[in-house]
Amino acid sequence: MCGIVGYVGDKEAAPVLIKGLKRLEYRGYDSAGIAVLGRAGLEIRKSKGALKKLEERIAGELGEGALDGSMGIGHTRWATHGEPSDINSHPHTDVSGKIAVVHNGIIENHAKLKSRLIEHGADFRSETDTEVIAHLINFYYEGDILQAVIRAMKRLEGSYALGIICGNNPDRIIAVRKESPLVVGTGKGENLIASDVPALLEYTRDVYYLDDREIAVLYRDRIEFYNEEGERRLKESHHIKWDAAAAEKSGYEHFMIKEIHEQPKALRDTLRARIKTGDTNINLEEIGFDASWAKMERVIIAACGTAWHAGVIGKYAFEKFARVHTEAEIASEYRYRNPIFNPKDIFLIISQSGETADTLAAMRLAKKGGARIIAITNVVGSTLAREADLVMYTLAGPEIAVASTKAFTTQLMCIYLISLQLGRLRETIGDTELTDHIEALKRLPEQAERILSEKENIQRFASLQFNKSKVFYMGRLFDYAASLESALKLKEISYTHSEAFAAGELKHGPIALVDDTTLVTALCTQPALFDKMGSNIKEVKARFAATAVITYEDVDYFDKTADQVFRIPRTLDSLSPILTVIPCQLYAYYCSVLRGLDPDKPRNLAKSVTVE
Ligand code: M6R
Repeated sequence: MCGIVGYVGDKEAAPVLIKGLKRLEYRGYDSAGIAVLGRAGLEIRKSKGALKKLEERIAGELGEGALDGSMGIGHTRWATHGEPSDINSHPHTDVSGKIAVVHNGIIENHAKLKSRLIEHGADFRSETDTEVIAHLINFYYEGDILQAVIRAMKRLEGSYALGIICGNNPDRIIAVRKESPLVVGTGKGENLIASDVPALLEYTRDVYYLDDREIAVLYRDRIEFYNEEGERRLKESHHIKWDAAAAEKSGYEHFMIKEIHEQPKALRDTLRARIKTGDTNINLEEIGFDASWAKMERVIIAACGTAWHAGVIGKYAFEKFARVHTEAEIASEYRYRNPIFNPKDIFLIISQSGETADTLAAMRLAKKGGARIIAITNVVGSTLAREADLVMYTLAGPEIAVASTKAFTTQLMCIYLISLQLGRLRETIGDTELTDHIEALKRLPEQAERILSEKENIQRFASLQFNKSKVFYMGRLFDYAASLESALKLKEISYTHSEAFAAGELKHGPIALVDDTTLVTALCTQPALFDKMGSNIKEVKARFAATAVITYEDVDYFDKTADQVFRIPRTLDSLSPILTVIPCQLYAYYCSVLRGLDPDKPRNLAKSVTVE
């Protein structure tokens, strides 16, 4: 959701900015722009639509004297205030045209600020909330851009990550963030900013994660950090260990299919960090999950989208293994609900990006209420990781596709590890049951590989079904939770109307929707409920729906009932979502491609939802 880049160094800035923006395309955008400060002063180019359009627009100018500076900022915009258009694209400038700003986030008091600034002579050209920032900085500008930014920050309400350049201070970029992600990269003779690490990796692996309301001033040869009072701060850099190739497609047609295939490795890495080869103990002491957590009386899980689906599975897992009362809450609902807290609550927050606005708000609310916070996230140094009491990282590597896949299955791996360990600490799970589950967890990466090796079966099925107008997923218990995720995957990238039902709810309403244009896929991995699922499948068949079942390879129970049966390796019933979701991810991917869509860039969606 909006991408920011900035460069100051010896290279021509424009190509570096465009390259950086390309690396951020996955975040979702509808227009793009750059500002370069060079011999010709501040030059801005922006364009509605794909980055390619902007690239083509400036291609002819490069080398012709235009846009030839070695410092600049760039932006991909995901419209919030004002339609996608050239004029609403960033960068935005002040009246004098000397200050340029790129912004990710929402300025909540922009209307009030705008009318005050108009009274002081500002002339607004766009409908964006961002433009007020440029005019406000200009209002406070008395020769020092840093001081002007500090004064402007005090007036801004809402969330922002900002890249700012000023024609009168042509040797520096100002970067600042509040509740929106921004990373600062430090190279040799060049320094950069970006919304996310992949945009920096070609130039450096050494990065600084800005804290809320912290300011970085980037010069070609140094970076200075300040707090919002303008006092200097010292900061430690982090070295990024993952390979730049991890953020490339590596021969796959799309990031999504690449990331689906990366799941066995991601699961293995996430597991091995906590259970050493040959060991049967879960080691979470290193991350601070010690015996003190056993005294907690309730687990509240909060997250959004796919991460919330992982949370629903978490609810079942915590209740089963640790016998602790658990709720799975949608973060955007939770934050406005005036919830009841208890200092004996474990608040488990799940987020791939660690930057989702609603998820962060729910966490801060719980923290204020006295709960102890555990974060499961994929992004080292993310806001979530920095603000939680304890962090467990999913070692999935960068997830670029908007549709989350490997983040989901590794989130589940973390949830199983924490819930099993809590069960051990609370003595609610016996030694044999614990060991059985640990051994079963260890088999999952290889079992995921086997499912992927048979992906052609899913592709064939998708080629027959991809035009179905309605696709429903149903299941019970862990299968219901996995159905929620399967339906989301299909709707977000194939635009098929897709829903998930707890199979027991079928007769309470959803069956009214079932007809001969419907495909119903039943996830059936809970043997105690096979009879019930069998009846549900017969009920939808009687309404002329096409039916498919995903079940274990040694189960023939559904062979005569369903039109199509897909088999997955046998695992323990509570761990099955890690496996059942993979054929559903593949099905969503193939449907998207067969419908001629780009699964990596679904319409209207952004990778990281950093505003409400
Ligand atoms: O980064 P987060 O895990 O906090 O993101 C939460 C959701 O926005 C995300 O899972 C979204 O639902 C994805 N598009 C799912 O594929």
